[in-house]
Amino acid sequence: NTRIETIKAENCLDEVLEPFAEMLSQGKTVAFPTETVYGLGANALDEKAVQSIFEAKGRPSDNPLIVHIAQWKDILKLAEEITPLAKKLADTFWPGPLTLILKKKSVVPESVTAGLDTVALRMPSHPIAHRLIAMAGIPVAAPSANLSGKPSPTRGSHVIKDLKGRVDGIIDGGMAMVGLESTVVDATGEYPVILRPGGITKEQIMEAVKGSERDFRTDQPPEESKKEVAPRSPGMKYVHYAPNASVVIVQVTDTPMAESIRHQAEAYRFKGHKVGILCTEETLKDGWPLLWKEGKVETDRITPEGWHIILNGSLREPSTIAGRLFDALRSFDETEVTLILAEAVSEKSLGQAIMNRLKKASNGEKRIPRLEKK
Ligand code: TXA
Ligand code: MG
Repeated sequence: NTRIETIKAENCLDEVLEPFAEMLSQGKTVAFPTETVYGLGANALDEKAVQSIFEAKGRPSDNPLIVHIAQWKDILKLAEEITPLAKKLADTFWPGPLTLILKKKSVVPESVTAGLDTVALRMPSHPIAHRLIAMAGIPVAAPSANLSGKPSPTRGSHVIKDLKGRVDGIIDGGMAMVGLESTVVDATGEYPVILRPGGITKEQIMEAVKGSERDFRTDQPPEESKKEVAPRSPGMKYVHYAPNASVVIVQVTDTPMAESIRHQAEAYRFKGHKVGILCTEETLKDGWPLLWKEGKVETDRITPEGWHIILNGSLREPSTIAGRLFDALRSFDETEVTLILAEAVSEKSLGQAIMNRLKKASNGEKRIPRLEKK
C-alpha cells in the first residue's frame, strides 16, 4: 500500500513525480529526499494530513514541523512578518539547509506549530524536493522521515525500513548530500538565534549578516539556545538519532585517538559489551593500519581484537563525516554491537552540528550503557 519509486535526481522527470505531487495535494503522506535528510511530507494547510505525519512517525504532538516551500512568494502567505534579518538570511541561503522561524499567519494550523505563534520555514535545494513541492502547489509540512527516536534517514533504504506500510508514498532519490538536518534560526528578532546547529554553520550565518544595511550585532556570535530555559526548539529536548546500541563519545585528548579508543574498548569488553567503533580515516590508519590497507571499511568490519569498526569520513573534510554519520549509526543496528565508541571531532564550523548529533545519540553522554544478559 506504500507506493515506492526510485528516481535519479539528475533526471527527475515531471511525469515520474506527478503521482506523488498529486498524493500530496490530496492530503496523503509522501517521503522524499532533500539535501539535508529525507522528509515525510503532507499538505501543511490540511489539519488531517498533518495529523497523519505524527501518526506515521509516532511523533509527540508537541513537537512542531518545518513547512517546506518552493518559491519566495509562499513565505508571504505563511509568515506574518518577514524581518530584515529573515530576508537577509533567506536571500543568502535559500534554497538550502536553513530553516527560519517567523511569526505565523493564522492559515497555518496549530498542529503544524504545536500551538506556538511561530512557524518554521525552509526552501530546500534538492531538485526532487523542490520540483515535488512546486508541482503539488501547496506548502509541505515535513519532519525527518524516520520513526520517532531513530536517526534521521539519509538514504531511501532507511525510509523504507522505518516507514514502509505506514505512509502513502516513498521517493527513493539516493543519498542526501549534507547528511545532517537544517540549521534552525529564530529570525523573529534583530539578531539570529541558532536553535539547532546544522548544515549551515554559525560562521556562515555571521558572515551573511555582516555589513548588511541593518546594523546586525556581528561583534557577537549568534546566540545559542540555552539548555536551562524552556526549549525554544521543542524537538531538541527529545532523545534523538539513537541507534540500538549505546553511544559513548571518545573525546579528543593528548593521547592519540586510536589509543584512547583501544583502551576504552578493552574496558567495555571487560564489562561484557560487544564493542563497535566509529572513527575517522586518520584514526583507522593510525590504529589499525592493516585494516586500512585492506581497503574500504565503510561497512562493518572486524578488527583483530574482535571489534566492529565503521569508518566515518576524514578529519580533513568534515562534510564527509556529517554526510555519513546517520548512515553509519544505523549500520550498527545490523550488527550485534551493544556499545559504540564514537570519535569526537572539534566543535568548529560543521563540527558543531556533528557533535550536537553525536551527543544526542549518546543522550548527552548521560545514558548509562545498558547490558542485556543472555
Ligand atoms: O533538514 C531538515 O530540517 C529536515 C528536512 C526534512 O527538511 N527536517 C527536519 O524536521 O529535521 P524535524 O521535524 O525532524 O525537525 C524540526 C525541528 C525540531 O527540532 C522542531 O522542534 C523545530 O524544528 N521547530 C519546528 N517549528 C518550530 C518553531 N515554530 N519554533 C521553534 N522550533 C521549531
Ligand atoms: Mg527529526
